[in-house]
Amino acid sequence: MQRKILVTSALPYANGSIHLGHLVEYIQTDVWVRFQKMRGHECHYVCADDAHGTPIMLHAQKLDITPEQLIANIQQEHQADFADFAVNFDNFHSTHSPENKALASQVYLANRDAGHIATRTISQAYDPEKEMFLPDRFIKGECPKCGVADQYGDNCEACGATYDATELKNPVSAVSGATPITKDSEHYFFKLGNFEEDLKAWTRGGHLQDEVSHKLNEWFESGLKDWDISRDAPYFGFEIPDAPNKFFYVWLDAPIGYLASFKNYCDRTGIDFDEYLKPDSTTEMIHFIGKDIINFHALFWPAMLQGAGFRRPNAIYAHGFLTVDGKKMSKSRGTFIKARTYLDHLNPEYLRYYFAAKLGSGIDDIDLNLEDFQSRINSDLVGKVVNIASRCAGFISKRFDGKLASTLSERALFDDFTNQADSIADKMEKREFGHAMRDIMALADKANQYIDDKKPWALAKEEGKDQQVHDICTMGINLFRVLIAYLKPVLPRTAEQAEAFLNIEPILWSDIASPLLNHSIDKFKPLMTRIETDKIVAIQQASKETMAAEPTAQKLETNSNIDPIADEISFDDFAKIDLRIAKIVNAEHVEDAKKLLKLTLDIGLGEKQVFAGIKSAYAPEDLIGKLTVMVANLAPRKMRFGLSEGMVLAAGPGGKDLFILNPDDGAQAGMRVK
Ligand code: MSP
Ligand code: ZN
Repeated sequence: MQRKILVTSALPYANGSIHLGHLVEYIQTDVWVRFQKMRGHECHYVCADDAHGTPIMLHAQKLDITPEQLIANIQQEHQADFADFAVNFDNFHSTHSPENKALASQVYLANRDAGHIATRTISQAYDPEKEMFLPDRFIKGECPKCGVADQYGDNCEACGATYDATELKNPVSAVSGATPITKDSEHYFFKLGNFEEDLKAWTRGGHLQDEVSHKLNEWFESGLKDWDISRDAPYFGFEIPDAPNKFFYVWLDAPIGYLASFKNYCDRTGIDFDEYLKPDSTTEMIHFIGKDIINFHALFWPAMLQGAGFRRPNAIYAHGFLTVDGKKMSKSRGTFIKARTYLDHLNPEYLRYYFAAKLGSGIDDIDLNLEDFQSRINSDLVGKVVNIASRCAGFISKRFDGKLASTLSERALFDDFTNQADSIADKMEKREFGHAMRDIMALADKANQYIDDKKPWALAKEEGKDQQVHDICTMGINLFRVLIAYLKPVLPRTAEQAEAFLNIEPILWSDIASPLLNHSIDKFKPLMTRIETDKIVAIQQASKETMAAEPTAQKLETNSNIDPIADEISFDDFAKIDLRIAKIVNAEHVEDAKKLLKLTLDIGLGEKQVFAGIKSAYAPEDLIGKLTVMVANLAPRKMRFGLSEGMVLAAGPGGKDLFILNPDDGAQAGMRVK
């Protein structure tokens, strides 16, 4: 029977780039969706950017652009990354959309009218300078347990303690530096406790992985508390319909964004949205998520849906977290790898295969071991799978005019391959991708073994063995085709190239058992190449670099007062610059020079003479005794007025407004600046 399935992946925050950790999820989901489609099911895969919340609002302010501009830029970047990794959403939308606004209101109002919303006044940290309430992560202070400074409002990175933001000693707002005050405000709450019995039944009703449903028992044991769903202005989000200046908390409208993206898709394609959302729907709704966001999906979300009179999800499939070389991804080790950095160097299908080979149905973390990755791809994909075709295709095109034989000489071997279609499908369905990949590679070994035994290259040199060579190579190509069919959800582009080479229509699962006989194939072109070590090194190197120089240039270009950012330099280029604090010990006019002042700078290691073009902004006497930042290792340059032994840094729009540092207690001549 044909299933109708709505599938989602968690919505990435519109606040940063997609990295390899995210891709565990998008690749896992995409493989599953492609598998369902290959099975002939009607499957819709939707996603969106998660665009609301305080971090996004503040990030946009920092870049001096509107949040709308920020999320539009990021959405473009995200979509390009996903497309290049062959993550094939049927629709990718945004939570900052009219559909989501309408659906969020609908869900909220229905819950309110059914008595599931309460209001209550709470007191919270407030930044009196910035005039906004402060989420925990925007408050810094000394850890109440160990006293280490500069810790965030919820946990201490030094000793691992968790605490309340109000317990921090000497707290400051990370936004303005002001000391937070405590302020009252009315908040809106979702009464999760109203759903306790239904949620108990639902979380134990086969919709969740066992380990997830066990974990949720802790929530029931400690009692379901009201969930705070409102935030005060200023907030980038949707205003609550009956509450001016109050906004939905980002996690209220984020999962509704799944439905909004689907609604947007239905409106464009004529799919019946309501059929998927009605409480007794026979369609399926399935969410793939990371294990960090289980509570939102397995408690709040089904309750909200139920309260709004919608259906609940059929399943929530959680996965573990990605580590690289056994450790949390790290910027300093060069293992915090962005999707784009990977794409600059390697074929995305390699990573798809590697993740598939590592993924199971549980929530264990998965490790990307870069050495293992390289050898696995080289041996499995290049050495085993692609090799089968390259060993047989040449004979078919050169000696048999590109045509396969008209019978299978070893039907039993072919049947061995196709007989596994059901068990492999079963593993794919259950997200046991790793098991499925192992089965497929065992078959690839078998196919190579067959060719090794038959040695078509030796027979080809003998007289009268043409038929045998034709038969063997026809077998080889047919076995290859079955393997490609099995791998197609994981390696969609390779499969597409293989389909072109085999000169066939896109393979469906139901085609697997029919052999290709008496059929002309195209010339074989290598489908994949080995991973060389230098590529892996380059990715790690570039990951270190991109973190040092976040590309903010494109975002600043919208501000016409500011010069466009110059060509990007590498971290190594930057590291060569020796910046020092310099004390201006003397400054004097230069005869005949319109812009220049002659500065004598003390950098603690002796004096340097520099000609600086800042005359329009400073009289020499104003500069003496002040500090500036100097590029101390710039090659000396002979100018018309004398030798200049460096450069000083000043900031500002130019003309009269050029700023040089005022002496500050902390700075001292000779100090290195970075
Ligand atoms: N915006 C929320 C999700 C809202 S869904 C209604 C969010 N965004 S996220 O960008 O932080 O993460 C998106 C998905 O990627 C989440 O499912 C998260 O678990 C997953 N991952 C983020 N980092 C990950 C790893 N390092 N490893 C595996 N998955 C990771 O959460
Ligand atoms: Zn501490």
